Amino acid sequence: MRKRLTITKLKKMKQERNAISVLTAYDYPSAKLAEEAGIDVILVGDSLGNVVLGYDTTIPVTIDDIIYHTRAVARGARETFIVADMPFMTYGIGREATMRNAARIMQEGGAQALKLEGGADIAADVEALVKAGIPVMGHIGLTPQSVHQLGGYKVQGKLDAEAEKLINDAKALEQAGAFSIVLELVTEPLAAMISDALTIPLIGIGAGRGCDGQVLVYHDILQYSSPYFEKKFVKTYADIGTTIRDAIHSYVDDVKKGSFPAEEHVFAADTAAFPTLYGTAQEQENSKESKDKAPSKTEARLL
Ligand code: KIV
Repeated sequence: MRKRLTITKLKKMKQERNAISVLTAYDYPSAKLAEEAGIDVILVGDSLGNVVLGYDTTIPVTIDDIIYHTRAVARGARETFIVADMPFMTYGIGREATMRNAARIMQEGGAQALKLEGGADIAADVEALVKAGIPVMGHIGLTPQSVHQLGGYKVQGKLDAEAEKLINDAKALEQAGAFSIVLELVTEPLAAMISDALTIPLIGIGAGRGCDGQVLVYHDILQYSSPYFEKKFVKTYADIGTTIRDAIHSYVDDVKKGSFPAEEHVFAADTAAFPTLYGTAQEQENSKESKDKAPSKTEARLL
């Protein structure tokens, strides 16, 4: 068993240029498999709204959704550092409400840290959470909870003023005590500049090779969706969607054909011990013979 990473170790990984691997997970088996595969950090992202709950955006995801899924992830990955997203409008809504919501996700969900979208605008909240003992991961660049404000899922920081704002946001989060920052959908040179400006790890998604680590969505790297839409910044490592669909198709076929369950899937009874229930050996033999002669249920349906 390996030991769970800490924010101190994660910061050291940046200094040592040891790239940090982060993957989302939303339930017990995905978390367990990610842990067994050696992931450094699991993020219970509000992307669960898109990839698990079938919403078009992350906006409908509630605090109860996040707590429910974080609890399952925490059961599956007991040795992995788990970060949970604070959902839309559960922070930046007044200090007391923000703190109460953060406390719920930590206590009821069992995460080790929280992630909040926003830069300098939420720095005061970040500072208060950190002072209360909660490790905070920032999230800047394309912030999906603001997709309508941003006008869609597009690359951020292309203009000078936007790039400057992102650098200032990153510094404000670091100053507020964030232990790391996710940077989403930003050009590679800008991401590298932001990483250089920080002492805390910058975790990129669609932000190129200059970051201190990478985060991707579980369902994206495994093509675990239907239909699967390719994204330029994602590398897919398996096509689980096709594997699952083909497997279920074979199961449906087997049930229809009557080839499942087969001999190896059924439980034999100790017929000798219960002659009253199952009949004598001779009666059983007779019944088997007459069954063998009779058309199967499937054959009868086809007759
Ligand atoms: O919700 C999420 O999965 C995220 C990642 C895309 C960084 O925020």
